[in-house]
Amino acid sequence: MEEIKTLIIDDEKNILESVKMVLNYENYQVETTNNGMDGIALFKKNRYDIVLLDVKMPGFGGLDVLKNLKELNPFSEIIMISGHSGIEEAVEAAKLGAFDFLEKPLSRDKLLLTVRNAAEKVILLKENYNLKTISEKKYRLIGESQAMEKLRQNIKKVARTNSTVLITGESGTGKELIARNIHNLSLRNKNKFVQVNCAAIPEELIESELFGHEKGSFTGAYEKKIGKFDNAHKGSIFLDEVGDLSTKAQAKVLRVLEEGEIQRVGSAEMKKVDVRVIAATNKDLKKEIKKGTFREDLYFRLNVVPIHSPCLVERRDDIPLLIEHFLVYFSEENNYKRKKISKPAMDLFRQYDWKGNVRELRNIVERLLIMSEGDTIAEYDLPDSMKITKEENAFSFTNIKSWKDFKFQSERLFLEEKLKEYNYNIAKTAREINIPRSNLYKKIEYSGIIIPDNLEADEGSPHSEE
Ligand SMILES: Nc1ncnc2c1ncn2[C@@H]1O[C@H](COP(=O)(O)OP(=O)(O)OP(=O)(O)O)[C@@H](O)[C@H]1O
Ligand SMILES: [Mg+2]
Repeated sequence: MEEIKTLIIDDEKNILESVKMVLNYENYQVETTNNGMDGIALFKKNRYDIVLLDVKMPGFGGLDVLKNLKELNPFSEIIMISGHSGIEEAVEAAKLGAFDFLEKPLSRDKLLLTVRNAAEKVILLKENYNLKTISEKKYRLIGESQAMEKLRQNIKKVARTNSTVLITGESGTGKELIARNIHNLSLRNKNKFVQVNCAAIPEELIESELFGHEKGSFTGAYEKKIGKFDNAHKGSIFLDEVGDLSTKAQAKVLRVLEEGEIQRVGSAEMKKVDVRVIAATNKDLKKEIKKGTFREDLYFRLNVVPIHSPCLVERRDDIPLLIEHFLVYFSEENNYKRKKISKPAMDLFRQYDWKGNVRELRNIVERLLIMSEGDTIAEYDLPDSMKITKEENAFSFTNIKSWKDFKFQSERLFLEEKLKEYNYNIAKTAREINIPRSNLYKKIEYSGIIIPDNLEADEGSPHSEE
């Protein structure tokens, strides 16, 4: 059985000691503290499975502590301990979600039984949660680069709140995945995640899609219709491509965000809804505001917590992981034979400029899995666009479409030349071209420069210390 972590919060020293002894003896992991404040601080750090909590303590009382703990982690079970048979407190504690109530003086058997029951419940809840995570494999965010770790942390942080989130980033970087992850990790995950693609709905229908309509409210409204906001009650609504909302619809969305109320098309009645809004766009909304196509007040309402989805070339280290993930995913889904990828082919994957981000990579991997012969995907299997040599790419001006592209390509060529000149010694190259070493690492990753294998362990390589 996995180890169950418990915490005892009680101002009586002898209770702390005796309960700890009993539970330790039964192989529970136990920590103790004599006041509520410290209890909450410890809980934040360690996420105990079970907390035994005294009701009457000087300072922060047990019921207040209980409230805090339940908000921090609804999966933990809290057992209240009380000195006097306080029936009112027991009722209150039950309402707040306490698992059970123990009376002092504590009976050893009752204590163990109650803790055991709570442990069973915790294990069951965790198992269910794990099952759910398996079914959510489809929405897993793959990547272990720094950028991804940071993104994951941000997702976790905002998931616990009800704040409106605005996800920005290039097309194909995973904005929809991020939105689903926020919902799945939130306390609303038992309720619906309702997705609305604002760009795909004709302007004249968007209001009725979002807010519903009354029968006969416009030509074609034969039936009463429930809107997406209604559907998402107590859950989350995902306003994808929010930059494409018409200005009229923007005004209505602003109203929901401000008042928490919706109004069906053709109805005078305002209706309260409890919906968490997650929005996404690949447009630069600040530019849209300047152009007059996006309301500034709505932008501020949406952008409460901004989350940026990094493009793939900013996290090239994730490319091998993503390839592996999609190779497994598509072979399992279609019963294809699992394939490997050759080193030169992998190098091309790492160097390519991925304008279509993860979506493009995913499509290429799927295609290669079907089309390539043999067990290993080789360089010559790759689409021609990926095979253009770096030199051709950099200085065939016809291939360079923008100033940004030009800077990117010429920087890459320069760095490659210099690295070669100094035999891929990174410390030396950085010194010679006069940039900080850490900066050079970032640039190498960003431009997809491959350091030859046999040199990777040398002094000054990414793996050695300064
Ligand atoms: N980090 C990731 N791990 C695994 N799959 C990913 C990741 N990022 C994106 N994908 C996959 O790439 C594809 C595109 O992702 P998604 O639809 O979320 O992009 P998007 O940012 O919403 O793009 P657009 O702006 O074009 O709507 C999806 O199939 C998604 O599953
Ligand atoms: Mg999308």
